[in-house]
Amino acid sequence: MADLLYIEASPRKERSHSIAIAREFLRAARNARPEFTVETVDLWKEKLPDFDGATIEAKYAILSQQAHTPEQARAWETVLRIIARFVSAPMLLFSVPMWNFGVPYRLKHYVDLVTQPTLTFRFSPATGYEGLVTNKRAVVIYSSSGDYSPGSGNPRPDYQKPFFEAWLRFIGISQFDTITVAPTIGADERVRSAHAAALTRAAQLARQYFGAHP
Ligand SMILES: Cc1cc2nc3c(=O)[nH]c(=O)nc-3n(C[C@H](O)[C@H](O)[C@H](O)COP(=O)(O)O)c2cc1C
Repeated sequence: MADLLYIEASPRKERSHSIAIAREFLRAARNARPEFTVETVDLWKEKLPDFDGATIEAKYAILSQQAHTPEQARAWETVLRIIARFVSAPMLLFSVPMWNFGVPYRLKHYVDLVTQPTLTFRFSPATGYEGLVTNKRAVVIYSSSGDYSPGSGNPRPDYQKPFFEAWLRFIGISQFDTITVAPTIGADERVRSAHAAALTRAAQLARQYFGAHP
């Protein structure tokens, strides 16, 4: 089991702002704790199964407390494997670009696969919904070409952060820190200073989490 599972949602790799900040977090974490281990889920390389047919029926079977058919059970094995990996590390790191006010579709696909009854949340009429991914910490790195911070005067809506944080809380992850790198396009100086501020915060947060050893 790795100390941290890193879920990478930008396909832009060397050109990605969110990935650069995530790499800085990981660099500072390794610096603070050399034995620190990371496993990466690159959502642009990962084979994510379509969430339809027997797979989605398997979800509804659980919700209605029915046994899986053999076909549903087979389809569900892949979902179980993805979730086992998702919950395997005590800490999660996400790099999350804004795409059309929300998150990239690959990340939404992953969210749809890992958000499953009895595995990452449960529901009972008496107590309502309860997240099951507890005792996990998370760091989320948001990037967007526009500045959506309060007071920025941006007239466009931001569904990236509210969506992602509602999801984290829904599955039980209530303790998380966020880093925003924005704007990532526009006047060079603003982009450079936003990027530099996010790098600094990433290194500070990593030291906070993993200790400030020399
Ligand atoms: C399909 C697509 C949709 C985008 N939609 C938005 C958007 O709604 N608002 C915004 O500010 N930036 C938007 N962007 C720009 C990205 O958020 C920006 O380039 C950011 O730096 C991407 O993160 P990355 O550098 O980590 O890849 C979009 C980019 C793509 C590719």
